[in-house]
Amino acid sequence: MQLGLKPVKPHSKTIKNHSVKPPFHRHAFHRINALSIDFKELDYQKTPLGDISLRRRSEPRLDDRVLYEVKLGDEFLMSSLFTEAERQLTHLALAELNGDDLQVVVGGLGLGYTAAAALEHSAVTSLIVIDVMAPVIDWHRRGLVPLGKTLTDDPRCQLIEADFFAVSTNPDIGFDGSAKNSRVHAVLVDIDHSPSRWLNPGNGTFYTAVGLSSIARKLLPGGVFGLWSDDPDDDRFMELLSSVFHTVSAHEVAFENPYTDAESTNTVYLARTPN
Ligand SMILES: C[S@@+](CC[C@H](N)C(=O)[O-])C[C@H]1O[C@@H](n2cnc3c(N)ncnc32)[C@H](O)[C@@H]1O
Repeated sequence: MQLGLKPVKPHSKTIKNHSVKPPFHRHAFHRINALSIDFKELDYQKTPLGDISLRRRSEPRLDDRVLYEVKLGDEFLMSSLFTEAERQLTHLALAELNGDDLQVVVGGLGLGYTAAAALEHSAVTSLIVIDVMAPVIDWHRRGLVPLGKTLTDDPRCQLIEADFFAVSTNPDIGFDGSAKNSRVHAVLVDIDHSPSRWLNPGNGTFYTAVGLSSIARKLLPGGVFGLWSDDPDDDRFMELLSSVFHTVSAHEVAFENPYTDAESTNTVYLARTPN
């Protein structure tokens, strides 16, 4: 599978009220790394999708704050510096739900911020987290990433190595891959850059009426589908969501970008099935 890579998030975040590109380019990132007081590559593995690595470094421009970064090939996939919208994806979605026995699925483990946010809710009794990259799951199991133990020590949480899109569009299996297609209260997805910018061209079929309908069918009545996006909210995607789901909304999540000294934003889409 060809995987176009997700740029490290600060490179592509929308900088509110700024039409110029942030002065924080990938090359600058490499120079900063060279200056880091503490830099350690914690793991490096070859995968069918490319070489993936996990690094820990201190950031001199942020008082030597320790950051964890995931690289796939030459590109940055995720940084522990930018996590606000990843966590809000969960909190905004779960705020839509009532009940005290919630089953939640997260597509895209990464550094685990979206998933760990679900475990902060005592109403969540089951969390399935699906990631296609075995090393990413392995880092959590080995406690190499800050939230690894939070996820793996919690009996409510199951980490599953699978292609989320293959699982979610297969009507004959559950999210855990078992033959029981049990429906869940919430499905939260952070895999692609946005509904129209994908890691892999094959992912595009998910962001169609057919793909989204398959998710809607795996949700319980009143269930919620949440999607993270690096782009501003997109009217065409909202129309598409509206054609499949009962209610839809888009939420701008703003956060400070210490590299640009400006505010950046991501979008969280929410879509619910009828009660
Ligand atoms: C940007 S990261 C997710 C970040 C996460 N929200 C967090 O809080 O750290 C995207 C993740 O999606 C995973 N991924 C890529 N393609 C996938 C697929 N087809 N199915 C499941 N996971 C996939 C990557 O391995 C990566 O861990």
